[in-house]
Amino acid sequence: MRIAIVTGGAQGIGRGIVTHLLEEGWRVIALDKDAEAVQELAAMHADAPFLALETDVGDESAVAAAFRRIAGWCVEVNETPGIDLLVSNAGIADPVSGPVEQLSLTDWRRWQDSHLTGGFLMTRAAVPLLRIRKGAIVFVASTRAIQSEPDCEAYAAAKGGLLALTHALAISLGPDIRVNAVCPGWIETAPWQKQSERSHPGHRAVDRDQHPVGRIGTPEDIAATVAFLASPGAGFITGQHIAVDGGMTRKMIYAG
Ligand code: NAI
Repeated sequence: MRIAIVTGGAQGIGRGIVTHLLEEGWRVIALDKDAEAVQELAAMHADAPFLALETDVGDESAVAAAFRRIAGWCVEVNETPGIDLLVSNAGIADPVSGPVEQLSLTDWRRWQDSHLTGGFLMTRAAVPLLRIRKGAIVFVASTRAIQSEPDCEAYAAAKGGLLALTHALAISLGPDIRVNAVCPGWIETAPWQKQSERSHPGHRAVDRDQHPVGRIGTPEDIAATVAFLASPGAGFITGQHIAVDGGMTRKMIYAG
């Protein structure tokens, strides 16, 4: 079976990606630092070809421990060596780090560690396994890698770093491994949170209508693009990033 590792897989977009890949018949391993969400997802997919592990992807020793557990699990389920896909999605989803004059080094590092260092640590550990099956990496970046609101420096820098990491890795790891990124726009994740934090918010017409496609995005929108980038149909695509944003980054905005 095809095997995917999805970071930040227990809630939000990552949970949507896990669900989509399981529906497509993949064997899926979700890593997430939220213990409650991990337990909930594991219980939900108890009968599926699924493993959920509590892991902080910005922590080198935690990532190493997760890969030891993954190796053991693959043996337990009689899987041949290797993985087919790494989806590096985990990270602090809040883009606002506050005014740059007041941004502490500790907070700056929290954003870089979860998104960028996490992406690096996961990639470093996954590459030997991906090489075996000639797999793919997909980073979940953001349209905020290429455009900004005020006070989002730590997030924007981390996401911009992921786009640079994408093209750098595509050149280093080809032809064995393809590497691409998805840049989500506004994705509503409230219905995809763990039970204790789940909600189903409505959206104002003005919020929907500002999107050229007339709606706000869903985790399924991102999952479908990730699955495409992992598929043989995307075999000639590497080093790219694709915006999945309902057209927002293509919209010209003038005041008044
Ligand atoms: P979310 O907060 O709903 O889910 C993120 C999941 O990642 C959570 O389960 C959390 O526990 C986990 N996580 C966070 N840091 C982690 C770490 N260091 N190690 C392991 N797990 C960690 O967030 P959402 O919205 O689903 O975001 C997923 C990705 O998509 C993030 O990289 C975010 O920046 C990106 N994104 C989200 C957008 C949106 O509108 N929701 C827009 C653009 C990008």
